[in-house]
Amino acid sequence: MLFLRLVLGSIFIVCCLTTLTNGATLAKDEVEALKSIGKTLGKAGWDFGFDPCSQRHGWVDQSTRYYANNVVCDCSFNNNTICHVVQIVLKAQNLSGTLPLNLNNLPFLQEIDLTRNYLNGTIPPEWGSSTGLISISLLGNRLTGQIPAELANLRNLTSLVLENNGFSGILPAELGNLSKIEQLLFLS
Ligand SMILES: *[C@@H]1O[C@H](CO)[C@@H](O)[C@H](O)[C@H]1NC(C)=O
Ligand SMILES: *[C@@H]1O[C@H](CO)[C@@H](O)[C@H](O)[C@H]1NC(C)=O
Ligand SMILES: *[C@@H]1O[C@H](CO)[C@@H](O)[C@H](O)[C@H]1NC(C)=O
Ligand SMILES: *[C@@H]1O[C@H](CO)[C@@H](O)[C@H](O)[C@H]1NC(C)=O
Ligand SMILES: *[C@@H]1O[C@H](CO)[C@@H](O)[C@H](O)[C@H]1NC(C)=O
Repeated sequence: MLFLRLVLGSIFIVCCLTTLTNGATLAKDEVEALKSIGKTLGKAGWDFGFDPCSQRHGWVDQSTRYYANNVVCDCSFNNNTICHVVQIVLKAQNLSGTLPLNLNNLPFLQEIDLTRNYLNGTIPPEWGSSTGLISISLLGNRLTGQIPAELANLRNLTSLVLENNGFSGILPAELGNLSKIEQLLFLS
């Protein structure tokens, strides 16, 4: 009897855990947004045969101070059935594309960290309308052009790290209005 209970108990636990981790999936429009973002960045290895919020199959990889390959989601929406992307952290991933224009299609995105890649081109002024952003790091890429004043619209931004790129021009005075900023690094 006890044995039977243990067996049934185990089956129950396995079923429920499986449902908990696999039940929620990324919102469809965000899957499309990630496909487009991956293409623009030159990201290899994102396997859309699996849910990007599965935390497996290369979507959340081992990360260290220098290396990271993670898409992090919040899956608590609609009674834990819908996920939204909250972080994209791709450090030292050999990305050699450009920055995507369409972060707006990830309305819950709080952090984008593309540290130490080979990204070139400019920071799109459109990033200034992704108002959920709290943290941006583009440290150590090949970005050029002016730092857009539109970034001053990111009222919740606490960290903006743009060091070691090839930016030119003057720093927009508007950035002085970022009232929550704690870290602002621009050396090049
Ligand atoms: C949320 O999900 C739980 C477990 O699946 C279910 O029991 C509950 O009725 C759901 N609540 C709503 C508001 O749908
Ligand atoms: C990046 O390229 C270097 C040199 O080719 C390679 O050793 C490294 O494994 C690559 N890193 C990733 C994450 O692909
Ligand atoms: C970015 O680099 C690619 C090749 O690596 C080059 O073709 C392109 O012109 C560069 N773009 C800019 C804006 O520098
Ligand atoms: C900014 O942060 C506050 C407090 O955490 C939050 O209520 C608000 O929704 C955030 N604004 C945006 C645009 O995400
Ligand atoms: C900063 O914000 C204040 C109040 O919103 C505004 O009057 C001022 O013009 C802004 N300064 C800059 C440089 O954008």
